[in-house]
Amino acid sequence: MDWNPTALIEEVRRIIEGPGGDGDKLQRVCDLLAERVPHYDWVGFYFVNPHRPRELVLGPYTGAATEHTVIPFGRGVCGRAAEERRMVIVGDVTREDDYLACSEETRAEIVAPLFNGGVMVGQIDIDSHTYDPFTPEDRELLDAVRPLVAPLLHP
Ligand code: SME
Repeated sequence: MDWNPTALIEEVRRIIEGPGGDGDKLQRVCDLLAERVPHYDWVGFYFVNPHRPRELVLGPYTGAATEHTVIPFGRGVCGRAAEERRMVIVGDVTREDDYLACSEETRAEIVAPLFNGGVMVGQIDIDSHTYDPFTPEDRELLDAVRPLVAPLLHP
């Protein structure tokens, strides 16, 4: 199955600019990306906890339930992305020393921090059951989606 970042970015924009509450919109973005990109098997948001600023808390997601509902900065791939404030792409999670498994089927992961006016408010996290599936198109998609969704991340 083929997918097109440009068309998907437009659909995300329509969700964000359309009616509905912020949590509902974030959920619909997760659903859209998980449904339309063949190698996305889990798509979710983590929020930076406003009361504990070095802690990530699970927000809306699509995919299997995860026990990792709270992740300290510095732990796992999500915690690394938060600590380093940059996108982290792992093509083979089995080679990671510090990886927090959401599902035994996960083989790869991409995590992109989200910023509002320079303040990190959370991140978008995507797991794949396929080894090394991410290409510059995934980066293009996420880089366009990041500023669209970031204003919706608030407690
Ligand atoms: N794998 C992540 C944990 C979150 S789950 O994938 C949903 C990590 O290592 O930080």
